Amino acid sequence: MTIKDITKQVTAAYDKIANEYQNAYAETDEFDLKYVELFSQLFQGKRVVDLGCGIGTNAAYLTRKGFDVIGIDNSRKMLDVAKDLYPQNTFMQMNILDLPSSLGKFDGVILSYVVNHFNKEMLNKLKTVVDNLLFDDGVVYIAAHLGNEERIVSDPLDANIQLYYNFLSASTLNKLFQNYDRMFIETRTSFGEEEFLCDKVFIAYRKKAVL
Ligand SMILES: C[S@@+](CC[C@H](N)C(=O)[O-])C[C@H]1O[C@@H](n2cnc3c(N)ncnc32)[C@H](O)[C@@H]1O
Repeated sequence: MTIKDITKQVTAAYDKIANEYQNAYAETDEFDLKYVELFSQLFQGKRVVDLGCGIGTNAAYLTRKGFDVIGIDNSRKMLDVAKDLYPQNTFMQMNILDLPSSLGKFDGVILSYVVNHFNKEMLNKLKTVVDNLLFDDGVVYIAAHLGNEERIVSDPLDANIQLYYNFLSASTLNKLFQNYDRMFIETRTSFGEEEFLCDKVFIAYRKKAVL
């Protein structure tokens, strides 16, 4: 599949399942928020961008904590839910791989279950996007489903909807961010109740200042 095909398919899928996503996950991801909290303590400034923010859970959590957060997503319907749930937050509809430089620089970047919808070529482009968005010493947080294969998957929330997934290894992410300092890495073994029977990883990397 081309980058264009993947992006189109993934965006269309999230447009269709936005309401189910809200019913399944809004305000229930407390386990993940533990890592978002940890990430937020790793940098000094307040500017955070949540790339692929979906229904806005992480963006809203950090806004409540006093951070200045922009949530970005390609899916209009996911953003409609986000705006409905968190009207005080800032959300923008954009493709992560096509961000304008006018967004400026950030102290923190969130990528929560987004890298699983990117193939190898997209991940390399994403790394450049993160490099450009972060101030030196800024931190990127990644949550991802672990594995070792690319597949078209029936969405756990609606079996009729198929979308591209890249189940990644932690070492793939470590290699991608090899010129950053890793701040934490934790894996959570699947306990069989979540959407995919696979482990998850939570990682933060700090961008090194170039001397
Ligand atoms: C699994 S959801 C995760 C949502 C949220 N980050 C969370 O942790 O609940 C993945 C989100 O990434 C968005 N997304 C995927 N590829 C994207 C792209 N290229 N640009 C912008 N958003 C994208 C999808 O529209 C979807 O809302």
